Amino acid sequence: MIESPRWIGGGRHGSGGRISTKLSRAINFVLILGAGMMLGVFLTLQFLSYLRLGILSPRGARISQRHGRGVLDYEDANPYYLNVMEDEELLWSASMVHRRPKPPEVVRIPKIAFMFLAVGPLPLAPLWEMYFKGNEDRYNIYVHSLPGYNLEVEQTSPFFGRHVRSQATKWGDLSMCDAERRLLANALLDQDNERFVLLSETCVPLWTFNFTYDYLMKSNQSFVGAFDDPGPVGRGRYDERMLPEVSIEQWRKGSQWFEVDRELATYIVSDVKYYPKFRDFCKPICYVDEHYIPTMLNIEFPKKVAMRSVTAVDWTKGGAHPGEFGKDDAVEFYQRIRSGHDCTYNGESGHLCFIFARKFLPESLEPLLARNIKHREFG
Ligand SMILES: *[C@@H]1O[C@H](CO)[C@@H](O)[C@H](O)[C@H]1NC(C)=O
Ligand SMILES: *[C@@H]1O[C@H](CO)[C@@H](O)[C@H](O)[C@H]1NC(C)=O
Repeated sequence: MIESPRWIGGGRHGSGGRISTKLSRAINFVLILGAGMMLGVFLTLQFLSYLRLGILSPRGARISQRHGRGVLDYEDANPYYLNVMEDEELLWSASMVHRRPKPPEVVRIPKIAFMFLAVGPLPLAPLWEMYFKGNEDRYNIYVHSLPGYNLEVEQTSPFFGRHVRSQATKWGDLSMCDAERRLLANALLDQDNERFVLLSETCVPLWTFNFTYDYLMKSNQSFVGAFDDPGPVGRGRYDERMLPEVSIEQWRKGSQWFEVDRELATYIVSDVKYYPKFRDFCKPICYVDEHYIPTMLNIEFPKKVAMRSVTAVDWTKGGAHPGEFGKDDAVEFYQRIRSGHDCTYNGESGHLCFIFARKFLPESLEPLLARNIKHREFG
């Protein structure tokens, strides 16, 4: 007699008779039909959205899910972004550290994160592709370019699908440090990344990938340029309101092109102590990207920082900016910068101080490629 499911309530009274049974059957039918239609619509929508994402952004959709962000905001997301997190959430997610002393005993190959801070195109990409070839298990690439810029590269290129969600950046401005932290945070989300190199679109590698890999992985220090410049463009940019966090004796200057290990990278994205001071008291003519990271690491990690950069530039041409190299002089500078310097590496003095160099103009690509093919440098 009690035929209708309990949630309709048809059988509960017992005395409902034929009419109420019929009614409840009818209601039942309508409800099931309705539910079926809703399920149908839902599945169709799911399928459509799958198709849309599948066609337009297979990589963006997949990777954003990997980072635990189940829903990709389609309107918002550049199809190539690695994830869709806003800065606050991104920095927070990346600021976690492992407290157990050792990673588990699984086969794990530590990687280098190559972080390209670029305006738009990467004209020297073919040289980098040659350099990366065959070493796919030991690096990750991250690209920060102006918002809305889509790097057009082949799907087979290691640069394909490696964009981080970006914001507009200006030289000498805090937005530059924000972009650096954004790159670091994205790279920190991958547990395999152990060393983090910041590069620009004018940078080139000087040695083979294997050599670079060993040089960085075996170093017990990180490579951040930091020096005490007593002049107007050094200490002259210090503001006393930075006390007590930063004193004038601790104030440092250095090129922004750093190389850091995981501990330092985590510290940089986690910092809430120095950042507000630099934001408020280092504005042009204080160029914050030349001071924030060098000064902070000099205070917090004086032993772990080599106080030198591994990215060479040429100041011999004079002027406020480093020399730029084109078709005619790129190869000469490239050869020159590879030898004859003095620095220390793991406590020993040596002559091999640079593993990257800048600033190479787009037109230097052909001569550099030709040189490296001839010398089988990246073979
Ligand atoms: C680079 O190192 C890897 C791993 O040690 C090795 O398999 C590969 O043959 C090396 N490549 C070159 C060109 O020496
Ligand atoms: C790095 O290694 C050198 C040589 O063993 C040692 O003198 C130096 O103290 C080490 N530095 C750090 C920061 O561990």
